[in-house]
Amino acid sequence: MDIGIDLGTANIMITMGSKGVVFYEPTVVAFNKKTEEIIAVGTKAYKMIGKAPDHIAVIRPLSDGVISDYDMTESLIKECIHRVTGRQMLMPRIVMCVPSMITDVESRAVIDAARQAGAQKVYLIEEPVAALLGAGADISEAKGRMVVDIGGGTTDIAVISMNGIVAKSSVKLAGNKIDAAVIKYVQNKYRVLIGERTAENAKITLANVFDPNGSREMAVKGRNLVTGLPAKVTLTDYDMYKAIIDIANELTDAVKNILEQTPPELAGDIHSTGIVLTGGGALIGGLDKLIERETKIRTFAAEDPIRCVARGTGIAFSHLDTLLDGFERISLYGYSD
Ligand SMILES: Nc1ncnc2c1ncn2[C@@H]1O[C@H](COP(=O)(O)OP(=O)(O)O)[C@@H](O)[C@H]1O
Ligand SMILES: [Mg+2]
Repeated sequence: MDIGIDLGTANIMITMGSKGVVFYEPTVVAFNKKTEEIIAVGTKAYKMIGKAPDHIAVIRPLSDGVISDYDMTESLIKECIHRVTGRQMLMPRIVMCVPSMITDVESRAVIDAARQAGAQKVYLIEEPVAALLGAGADISEAKGRMVVDIGGGTTDIAVISMNGIVAKSSVKLAGNKIDAAVIKYVQNKYRVLIGERTAENAKITLANVFDPNGSREMAVKGRNLVTGLPAKVTLTDYDMYKAIIDIANELTDAVKNILEQTPPELAGDIHSTGIVLTGGGALIGGLDKLIERETKIRTFAAEDPIRCVARGTGIAFSHLDTLLDGFERISLYGYSD
């Protein structure tokens, strides 16, 4: 049974053979600070964010697109694999996508964890390659395609042609930074401090970076910074626009930058293939229209964008021999045959 893993900064997803995505939970670990014992991973740990007592730490070990805690990341991977395989894995192959900014040493730690969980062979795939495969693109064609994967910690932008990456960049402008901007905006405008999860919910419900008109609203709860008491404020889509438009514009500039570095023939292709958005951030209201207006290139979210990379890791098994950048770093570990 082949297993695909998208180890994202916000979510970890696992695909199994033809079953598709069988595991989808937040990349969060809760552990006892004194004993280092793991208390919960995934959804259970996510629910503890901002609510755990002092001796329990609830962390997102990959939050900035780098591994801030090796041991916890290893435990997380092992635990997730065991959960889908029921601890009796028959030495399968694993194709894994890790955040693009992690170092080779960190990748090695992740690969080791997968092997300890019973994997016979572990292949690393580059995120944009997996994202485009998962979006249903035929990346073997001699045709330029652009993908922008907007995750929790990083946004990965790449141009791909003939199974290889032509130009790429990774920027720390993604979901977490947007949530932080929402927290800051509410704090400055209303003197109310809201939590991370509240900010994320407000973003998902209200975000519109293209044409907000103040017609949608949502009540959020936090703590009044002046009185120190619980407080409720009503946010509109226009508030959200003001909170996050700067980040959306920076992101658009990063996309333009890669377009400028793309060789002319391939840039020409992108005019017809368009810009594909994947990752959770692809769902930010109006982001597709904003990028389309600024680049003058048709821009659209892939179907079910959050699962694209995970789907791509599954699809990659049937292309193991042809993908180039997909498996760039394999020789480094000697795990391929
Ligand atoms: N409907 C939505 N609108 C805006 N942002 C969303 C939406 N759904 C999820 N997100 C954001 O997408 C990010 C997670 O995307 P994901 O692709 O899973 O990240 P990663 O690959 O880094 O784990 C989070 O920051 C989350 O808040
Ligand atoms: Mg991702």
